[in-house]
Amino acid sequence: MKAKPFIKWAGGKSQLLKQLRVKYPKELELGFIKNYYEPFLGGGAVFFDIINSYPVENFYLSDINEELILVYQVIQNEVETLIELLQAYQQKYSGLDNDKRKAYFFQIREEYNHSRFHIHDKNLSPDWILRAAQMIFLNKTCFNGLFRLNKNGGFNVPSGNYKNPTILDKSNLINVSKLLQRVDLKVADFSQLEKVITTADSFVYFDPPYRPLSKTSAFTSYSKTSFDDQAQIRLAKTFNILNAKGIKLMLSNSDPKNVDKTDNFFETQYAGFRIQTVSANRMINSVSTKRGKITELLMTNYP
Ligand SMILES: C[S@@+](CC[C@H](N)C(=O)[O-])C[C@H]1O[C@@H](n2cnc3c(N)ncnc32)[C@H](O)[C@@H]1O
Repeated sequence: MKAKPFIKWAGGKSQLLKQLRVKYPKELELGFIKNYYEPFLGGGAVFFDIINSYPVENFYLSDINEELILVYQVIQNEVETLIELLQAYQQKYSGLDNDKRKAYFFQIREEYNHSRFHIHDKNLSPDWILRAAQMIFLNKTCFNGLFRLNKNGGFNVPSGNYKNPTILDKSNLINVSKLLQRVDLKVADFSQLEKVITTADSFVYFDPPYRPLSKTSAFTSYSKTSFDDQAQIRLAKTFNILNAKGIKLMLSNSDPKNVDKTDNFFETQYAGFRIQTVSANRMINSVSTKRGKITELLMTNYP
């Protein structure tokens, strides 16, 4: 069953999949990996690739962003109602001229932000389904498909300019929902994995917010908290702890050497592990002079 990311997410890995796929551990192909973990889930491009292609039995997906995980949980449990709501948004939006579309976008954004204070007190409820529909609508119609929150947790991305945005991709959502029946979803900090993973027949792909290449290029606002160098160091510790348990690990990050050849931050943090480069066309975090091809790092604890 083919399914693909249903949401646009900064740092999404769809473009890099071809290069990443050849770096997966050979145990995945051989069928020895039974458990897959992705603790910085975002749009989940690598998760979809793996669940579509390999005989893994259990999937554990998490992200610190509770709004994002809410959408996954609604797709997992209430996809039919979600589809009805998105169908209504699609119809309404398609029938409007540009000015009215803008006004409609801001109306939905207002509703989305207004209901945020009590939504996470409840378990899956009709309010969640509406919230998931609003988030997908905003993601498909906002500027660049960004998800960015202000300090108070309000979604603040402006309206985008699209001729015919696909607000509802029904068959993909149905496929995603079927696949998610086999998945465990959680709101969690990545370090939770240290306690959770017990068996070595596991593979973890880490795709944290990238370390900014320069102070001005920082895009760290996926959630209310930012991901600074202290967080990167904490992550390298988690990597080391899981490595000691014999778990296969792969991790992406930016390559500081694009702008400063003397910056050995990752060589220091991942000493003793394999560090390779892949080339990417960066959209976010890009240094203006370097737009186009740029290298990124890929750390693994296997050959
Ligand atoms: C680069 S994105 C992942 C992109 C994803 N691989 C994709 O293909 O769309 C990084 C994700 O890390 C999440 N995140 C930030 N800090 C985190 C933390 N401390 N623990 C877990 N997730 C975190 C963000 O919410 C964001 O979704």
